[in-house]
Amino acid sequence: MQLADRVNRISISPTAAVLAAAERYRAQGADLADFGPGEPDFPTPEHIVQAAIRALHEGRTKYTPTAGIGPLREAICKWHAAQFGSSYTVPECVVTVGGKHAIFNAFCSLLGAGDEVLIPAPYWVSYPDIVKYAGGTPIHVETRPEDGFSVKASVIEKAITPKTRMVILSSPNNPTGGVIPPDEYERIFAICKKHNVWLMSDECYSHFTYEPHKPYSIASVADSKEHVVIIGSMSKTFAMTGWRIGYTLAPEALVQATVKLQSQSTSNPTSIAQHAALEAMRGSMDSVPVMLAEYAKRRKRIVEGLRAIPGVTCEWPGGAFYAFPNVSAHLGEGKNAAAKNCTELSKLLLEKAHVALVAGEAFGAPGFLRLSYATSIERIEEGLRRLEKFCPEASTRTRSRNPSDSSARRATSKRAAR
Ligand SMILES: Cc1ncc(COP(=O)(O)O)c(C=O)c1O
Repeated sequence: MQLADRVNRISISPTAAVLAAAERYRAQGADLADFGPGEPDFPTPEHIVQAAIRALHEGRTKYTPTAGIGPLREAICKWHAAQFGSSYTVPECVVTVGGKHAIFNAFCSLLGAGDEVLIPAPYWVSYPDIVKYAGGTPIHVETRPEDGFSVKASVIEKAITPKTRMVILSSPNNPTGGVIPPDEYERIFAICKKHNVWLMSDECYSHFTYEPHKPYSIASVADSKEHVVIIGSMSKTFAMTGWRIGYTLAPEALVQATVKLQSQSTSNPTSIAQHAALEAMRGSMDSVPVMLAEYAKRRKRIVEGLRAIPGVTCEWPGGAFYAFPNVSAHLGEGKNAAAKNCTELSKLLLEKAHVALVAGEAFGAPGFLRLSYATSIERIEEGLRRLEKFCPEASTRTRSRNPSDSSARRATSKRAAR
């Protein structure tokens, strides 16, 4: 079938493909150690659920204004100001169908043919495809494991050309968990300002940061508004992935453009979900530190467990809920020689060990795997056991590259002796 060019430019989200493959195995009765899902395993907090139920009973089931109900737009501005010290007003806020929709609308409103968007790699799978859909050109810039995958202002500055229209930063990052420290963020902002380039700040994981990092927004910087697009989401912070509520905070003219787009596509985000989000913005945030404390325990277990597998290196993620190990020593001529790359390795892991995870290629990072630890400690233990059994030894070709190999091997042999 002849399809439109703009659809042929993009592919189905690889993370969605992993979820679907895992689901097929589960349907056949497989007991999966599932590190695939990029969503909290916690339920939506009860007070938020109750707000949605109330909204249903009160008949709040009609169309709302396209940009979202006024009280929610106002509550988002207040919440963002209280959390981060920003100063947005209602006309500078639009409620969207999740953070992804906010990103989609902003790209579609700002990018023209050939406009370049700088995307630090490893990147969230959807950025390059949405840029391409909008007619722009994604340009990947490097981050390094030894910097905790935090992008450097100097790297951004070098990559800027007359065609650069936007830089997109996500901190904490999916898939690496990398966090950009405020001073580096502000250096990047200064570069964007100097070159008259938009800075998109994806804050979807803002509240899941581990010590010493703290939630941070570039919107706290005075006079940043003119060059900044803030993308927010209820999905992760409030365990509300399925409710599909996000937002954009940006200059009014850009907000108006995205509302126009929204008025001809989705119309308003679901009315009931907006009332739930209103409670999230106004009500108690007690559930957030509880989730964070649990993620912190899992992070420790999974990173230590991965590092104990010979040939695997893994940085400490500064935030979010993903571990991003380098497993390149297990490609090529290792025991599981069939795996030439991580896409093949992840398929083998699903097929033979019933471990679901996402290959680094999906994030522009060959040689890496993404494991979501939004799952119980018991399932993490089980998954680590399976991984260790599947990858008992690294290929001699690459083994020496792993700086933590010797301590990792000691840890493994200690465990084996017990
Ligand atoms: C970095 C990042 N940004 C944005 C999103 C979009 O989230 P949602 O559309 O559920 O708000 C995700 C989802 O996984 C993400 O990982």
